[in-house]
Amino acid sequence: MALVTGASSGIGRATAQAMGAAGAKVAVNYRSQEDEAKNVVAAIEKAGGEAIAIGADVSDEADVEAMFKATAKRFGAVDVVVANAGMQKDAASAEMSLDDWRKVIDVNLTGQFLCARAALRRFRAQGDRGVSKARGKLICMSSVHDLIPWAGHVNYAASKGGISMMMKTLAQEFAQERVRVNAISPGAIRTAINEEETEGEAGKELLKLIPYGRIGAAEDVANAAVWLASDLADYMVGATLYVDGGMTLYPEFRGNG
Ligand code: BGC
Repeated sequence: MALVTGASSGIGRATAQAMGAAGAKVAVNYRSQEDEAKNVVAAIEKAGGEAIAIGADVSDEADVEAMFKATAKRFGAVDVVVANAGMQKDAASAEMSLDDWRKVIDVNLTGQFLCARAALRRFRAQGDRGVSKARGKLICMSSVHDLIPWAGHVNYAASKGGISMMMKTLAQEFAQERVRVNAISPGAIRTAINEEETEGEAGKELLKLIPYGRIGAAEDVANAAVWLASDLADYMVGATLYVDGGMTLYPEFRGNG
């Protein structure tokens, strides 16, 4: 059983569908896009899977607790959590409002912490269910910007840098209970979050930063998430998978530097 946050669109949506196709029952979390979340549920069901849509703001402690309760009530257990919900509110750093700083940290970092805490408590309480080698799998959706500084996006980059150390700390703390905590850091994936950067002229400029020569699809990330959650990845603990077409390889250094 897999719970995916921020699953009404983009990487979350593709991940929820891929988990469903791989045989997991899926909880499709959304905050405001209820209709879209229901469409994701319908798509999973159409493909022969089982899913429910659950509304919750991941930055709200009571919402997160209620979401885990509802998921466990419907499916009996939670085995995989993909803490994916995230947002951007971009501004030049000198102009960034405290509100925009807080909002992004609240959703991207504190929201993931709240979901991680609820997941880890549940994995611990469930013990060994015999469905997988590990007792639970937590995947934190990060970004190449947990490594690459990003002018004009200081709140976002700080949130993703924070996720990286949060993930490793949780992995270190929970590995002895056979809970696997890992992260995925996507590069430029074509979704609603970056429509402007990935289309037209901007899209061509962006390609210069991607050695593999194409902008990613949400499924590229979803496939990595399914693998990371599976027993094929049973020895992956505290790792970050960069699914980025080589964006973190400093392509601007090709030929000079
Ligand atoms: C951001 C995208 C951006 C990509 C590469 C992601 O984390 O959400 O907007 O295109 O990083 O810079």
